[in-house]
Amino acid sequence: MTARQDSAKRGAMPQLTHAAIHERALIVDFGSQVTQLIARRLREIGVYCEIHPYNRVDAAFLAEYAPKAVILSGSPASANTETSPRAANEIFELGVPILGICYGEQTICAQLGGDVEQSDHKEFGRAHVEVVKQSPLFDGVWEVGETRQVWMSHGDRVNAIPEGFEIIAKSDGAPFAAIADEERKIYGVQFHPEVVHTPDGANLLKCFTWNIAGLTGDWTMAAFREEAIESIRAQVGDAKVICGLSGGVDSSVAAVLIHEAIGEQLTCVFVDTGLMRAGEGEDVVRLFRDSYNIPLIHVEAEDLFLDKLAGVDDPEKKRKIIGATFIDIFEEEANKIEGAAFLAQGTLYPDVIESVSFDGGPSVTIKSHHNVGGLPERMNLKLVEPLRELFKDEVRVLGRELGLPEHFVGRHPFPGPGLAIRIPGEVTKEKADILRKADTVYLDEIRKAGLYDDIWQAFAVLLPVRTVGVMGDERTYDHVLALRAVNSTDGMTADYYPFSHDFLGACATRIINEVRGVNRVVYDVTSKPPGTIEWE
Ligand code: XMP
Repeated sequence: MTARQDSAKRGAMPQLTHAAIHERALIVDFGSQVTQLIARRLREIGVYCEIHPYNRVDAAFLAEYAPKAVILSGSPASANTETSPRAANEIFELGVPILGICYGEQTICAQLGGDVEQSDHKEFGRAHVEVVKQSPLFDGVWEVGETRQVWMSHGDRVNAIPEGFEIIAKSDGAPFAAIADEERKIYGVQFHPEVVHTPDGANLLKCFTWNIAGLTGDWTMAAFREEAIESIRAQVGDAKVICGLSGGVDSSVAAVLIHEAIGEQLTCVFVDTGLMRAGEGEDVVRLFRDSYNIPLIHVEAEDLFLDKLAGVDDPEKKRKIIGATFIDIFEEEANKIEGAAFLAQGTLYPDVIESVSFDGGPSVTIKSHHNVGGLPERMNLKLVEPLRELFKDEVRVLGRELGLPEHFVGRHPFPGPGLAIRIPGEVTKEKADILRKADTVYLDEIRKAGLYDDIWQAFAVLLPVRTVGVMGDERTYDHVLALRAVNSTDGMTADYYPFSHDFLGACATRIINEVRGVNRVVYDVTSKPPGTIEWE
């Protein structure tokens, strides 16, 4: 089901609200790991685009969506088999510029009369291309004769290009590194312009969308704000809306945006699980109730959550208990709001993009993420999801546009089950308090070193392991604390953050000196995969 069919089924957002207003590009997804990056690069240069699986993009879809440019993504599939996924032929008949990336280039060649073969010379990682012919695709970015760094990741390669095409760049492993049919405005690149390791990639995408396809970069968060306000008003009418605040960026931005649209018709509910970071609960209340004057129900439920978690040490059970308790409390409070017909959620675009699967197998649940899933059906509420079309970085820009303070907008992601999944084993108030203190010191050091905005997510984990230490002349027998910091673009993969040893040493000293209950600090150097970001 496509994102739009999905929201139509739920009777939620009016269809194609923003896409109907903006000029738009279409990204046809063949399942590459980095397809979302194409969309992000395009959005960053003001081009509205949506990602749709190749097998949903047919004549009817194209007529409705009416893209001004089409990009065919990469893929893990091979382009030279009987069953290779193909782009709908109608795409080539639209008469709009087309850019095939990696697999996208290969399928263009396979479909338009060229040839693709498996190559002995696979290319993964950094490579260099030489520009052999000037093209509008390179305008102002690359000149003929220059050699430029790109990122390659392909096994198959183009063997012969279709009639009408010519080579505009080549590399050792890919003689057809970039090809063009300038008349039909169809382009193919074997490398990935969407990843940062192709340093000029964003500029090449700009050449394609702005210069070749004539898109004008009319997608901005200031324009989005105005349009979203109109569409929220149109959707909600004079009904009441309830919004669950988590303290995170997404639900906060959604709430402020909806409040701008419908004012007092919005009530926010903030369930304080007692499993948040130090000061974050108070911060939410201060900001929403006092600064924005948004009606806010603040439920202090620490005791209830800790009671329900007593004696439970299995990670999945902990998550389920927290999710169910949250829903019970939220439902009870929401039922008190007479005439509530809508539930607001900070759902983002990556949550609604339908993924393309080639093996057809079921995906394994690694962790059951807790949100208010199931609530709308149970309470018979319709959804308002004003951020459904946005990426996280766009939500941050929108938050700034709406005047949310920087420390709120730039906040690292924080999981719904909160500190409970950062305390492996049984959760107790004592452990949560120790963790909160240690986490505060750790983040304080990160901020002082000016690293907070460089890091995607940083936090501490209180281990159920005690070790022997010595402080002064005293023997201690206290917890081990693990520090974690990662960089990531979407949480799907992550690299551990390379702090200096001096920084880590200073953090450890401060934590052990200031936080009673911790006498040893370790740093987690696991990336994802094979690890996950959280420990549970
Ligand atoms: P993992 O641990 O799966 O985390 O690598 C990926 C990202 O998701 C966050 N996370 C959650 N967020 N509810 C949430 O809202 C959850 O249950 C949950 N579990 C993990 C995690 O903090 C990281 O940003």
